[in-house]
Formats: sequence, C-alpha cells, structure tokens
Amino acid sequence: MAATQKRQGLDAQFYLPADEFFAANAHVALTYDDVTLATLYSEILPRDTQLETRLAEGLVLNIPIISADMDTVTESRMAIAMALNGGLGLIHYNMPERQQLSEVSRVKYHVPGMIPDPIKVGPDQYVGDVVKLIEERRYGFSTFPVVDPEGRLVGLLPGHVVKPRYAQRKVAEVMTPRAQVHTIQKKDLGRDPIARADKFFTEHPGIHKLLVVDEEDKLRGLFTMNDVERIAQERKSQFKPARDAQYRLICGAAVSAVRNAFGELDRERILNHVSALVERGVDVVAVSTAHGHSKGVGETVRLLRDAFPKLPIIAGNVTSAAGVEYLARCGANIIKVGQGPGSICTTRLVAGVGIPQLTALYVCSRAAASLGVTILADGGINKSGDIVKALTLADAVVCGGLFAGCNEAPGEIIEISGKLYKQYRGMGSLSAMKAGSAARYGHENNPNQKVAPEGIEALKEAVGSVDRVLAQLIGGIQAGMGYLGAATLAELKKKARYIRVTAAGMREAAPHDVIELKTQQ
Ligand code: XMP
Repeated sequence: MAATQKRQGLDAQFYLPADEFFAANAHVALTYDDVTLATLYSEILPRDTQLETRLAEGLVLNIPIISADMDTVTESRMAIAMALNGGLGLIHYNMPERQQLSEVSRVKYHVPGMIPDPIKVGPDQYVGDVVKLIEERRYGFSTFPVVDPEGRLVGLLPGHVVKPRYAQRKVAEVMTPRAQVHTIQKKDLGRDPIARADKFFTEHPGIHKLLVVDEEDKLRGLFTMNDVERIAQERKSQFKPARDAQYRLICGAAVSAVRNAFGELDRERILNHVSALVERGVDVVAVSTAHGHSKGVGETVRLLRDAFPKLPIIAGNVTSAAGVEYLARCGANIIKVGQGPGSICTTRLVAGVGIPQLTALYVCSRAAASLGVTILADGGINKSGDIVKALTLADAVVCGGLFAGCNEAPGEIIEISGKLYKQYRGMGSLSAMKAGSAARYGHENNPNQKVAPEGIEALKEAVGSVDRVLAQLIGGIQAGMGYLGAATLAELKKKARYIRVTAAGMREAAPHDVIELKTQQ
C-alpha cells in the first residue's frame, strides 16, 4: 500500500495538472511543442470517444474543429465540407457583403447529395454538340437534363443516345420527354432528402437519376444513385453533420469592425449586414481582428449583442485574462485566443507582441471558465497532437494552414516542378489587406497604404479532400483521448497532466535516425 502511494507520488511530482503546471512555469510562455501529455490508465478505446463540444447556447459541434475565416481557406465549399463532418466553417469577409450573404445561403441551403446546379442542355442543340462538350470538359457522365430558355424541364437526354452516330439529331428528337422523366418537388424532399432519394431509387429499379423541380417546373437539382449510395454509407460514420434546429448545415461568418470615412465605427453598415446574415440563417458571427481587446471590437460586439440577444458571437483575438473579460462583458459568448501563432503570421516579428499558444490558452481558459464563456485555440496548429494539447484547455480549435491545401479551399491548384500546391496567405499580408481585410489589422482608410504587413503569402502542398484531412485529425484526437482514458472532451480537460520537453525531447518525438519512405497513407 505504502509502495503504491509512493509510486503515485512519483507521477504527481513530475506530471502536473494544468493549474499546478502553468503556475510552476509562470515565468515562461509555452507552446504546443514545449510540452507533452502524460498517459493514464484507460478503459476507453479511441473509437468510443465523444467529440461533441458546446460553444454557446444553440451552437453545438460534433467535432471541435473550425476552419479559419481566411480568404484562402473558407468559403461555402469549405464550410459545407466542415459542417458535413460535424465541424464549422467561418466564411471570411474579404468579399463584397452581398457575396458573403450568398456564400452563407449556399451552405444553409445545401442539400447533401443533391447537385444544386446540374449541367443542362437545350432541346435545340445537336447531339454532336453535347458529345463535343463532354470531350472538351472531360465530363465523367453523359446524361443531361434538358431545359427551355426559362429553365423549365422539358426532358432528359439519356447517356445511351449521346453517341457520334446520332450527331445530326436534335436533342428534342432523342430525349426522354418530360412526361416520362422522374421528378420530385423540392418542397417534398423533407427533412432528410437523402433518405427520400434513397427510397425513390429502391422503388424504381433501373432509374439512376432523380430530378428536383419547383412549382414552376424549373430544374432545381439532381440526385444520382451513386452519390446517394455513397452518402447513405457515410452516414453510418461516427460523427454526424452539424445542423441547426431546421436540419440545415450550420455556418458561421466573419464580420469586420468597419469604420466610416470619419474613422467612426460604421454602426449602420455593421447592423444591416449582420441582420441580413441572420435572415439567411447564419448560426454564429465572428468579430475577427488581430487585437480584440480594443475599443472598436468591444463596441462592435456590444452593438451586435444588443441588436441580436440570442445570436452566438465569437470575438477576438486576445491572449490575456483581461481581454477575455472585456469581450465577455461586451457580450461575446466565444472568445478566440491567439496572437501571432499562425503559420503565415508575422505579428510577433513585426510588432514584437503575442504569447505562445499554450500559456495563452491556459490564462484565457481560466478567465473564460469564471465568466461562463468558451474559448477557441486559433492558429499554430499543424498536427493532430497539437489539437489534443489545445483541447485540454480550449473548447475547439481554429485551423487555417491545415485546410488551405484542400480541394475545398478557394483557389486553384498550382503545379511547380511536378508537385501540386495551393495559395495560402495571411489576412494581414499586403495582398489580403488590399483585397479588404485591412480593418482586421487597424489599417482601413489609410490613404497612403504604407502599412507594415503582419502576414505572408505562401503555398501549401495540395492535400486532397477535407474529409481525408479531418479523418486523420479526428483519428489523432481520439487516440490522444484513449491514452488519457478520457471518453469526452470535458474528461480530457480534467485528466490532462503536463510536463515540459526539451529540444532533444522534441527531436525524439518525431521520426529520427531513419530514412523516411512515406509519411502519409
Ligand atoms: P494557422 O496556423 O492555422 O493559423 O495557419 C491561422 C490563423 O492565423 C491568424 N491569421 C493571421 N495572424 N497575421 C497574423 O498575425 C496574418 O496575416 C494572419 N492571417 C491569419 C488567424 O487567427 C487564423 O485563424
């Protein structure tokens, strides 16, 4: 008994819980690679862990991961992919306000599995034109809805007649006429369109396409059996899409503390825009700036809180307890923590400020807990282990660089010497500020544009789909929780015990003394 106690004492002496560990390291700012987590007795298998996180009243994510509000990371495609995986995307604001509204609408009205705007042909086109179109655009399909100039459905051109031998025939001569085309009214898709489409395909053997129309018989979408089967399969996966009360995917949008020509906060413009976002169904807005503990950000949050008492508001960024308190008292529910840790950030080099992320998260987490708000770990995350460490203190993480190389991020794939890349730039880089994000760094209305950028322009290796990247990250988080015997994120926070590592310890942690053949599957 005494020997057991002594052994437990040894663990307690070296592996410290957060309050003791950070107090013992109060003189130094630590980040993810400076510490490691001690393992604990576990009865939890990684696959049995729960990753649900409640960020605010009415805002629950099924995985604690958010894609950053950056113009090379999150637009509607990314936000849809994030929400389908159980997370959240924050649509950036480096675009005209009207465009941001349509981006939010695209997410809110996304019907999983339905192609909202399928490629169509006209009844007067020749089959030869369609054959050419398929070749030129390299379509992997050859069945097309046929619509009149008003967009009304007039038939379906089946793949088996799209052949060079029928090149001289008009589409109208060879198509399946409207009366024989299977359709469903958009309003009849119900809460679970995939289940509805799945049922249709079971009831209609041999039919592989279902067209969606509105009351005026205008084409509004298309389901294919292959897509529906794939999604029905994916549904059996552990993490459900993040949806609102009306079963729509959730979506966030960043808003800027914009000023008018007199340098005053442009209250009317901010309120009008957020009202429009709320009308479109936005689930959360993020007042995203480099310095959240500032008058303009506080006033913006207060303005929004007064106008929209129930809207979840993210605000930031801060790295101090006073900053958390200020934004919480102004009405923010979720505080973004991180100044200068981002992979494209140069704030610490340029301005000499910012706190390494783990210490910042500890300080902010303790302030947040006493104020009843939640925190996000924003920036500096480049592997799943960082996320596990972040989640011992934060309620979710915000990632930019990890997703910037995905297919779903805005921008084209660039080929350089046989390798594929995508552009990734800081919102404080000169080019991004010119495109609109100057307010985030306090530089809007600057007539001479002589500003010191706080971010760089870079490239990220193309990494395929968000689904694939998230699967790896989630696998890592679940593994970490398994090692700590934590079934939930709340238990992870409670159980985490830390110890510092040296540079030698860090080297030991990565593959070493081998010639690496392959790093990823
Ligand atoms: P990661 O490490 O995920 O960081 O690429 C993304 C986060 O970095 C912040 N951000 C910036 N910070 N200058 C900065 O100092 C910038 O130009 C800049 N752009 C983005 C932001 O918080 C983002 O979520």
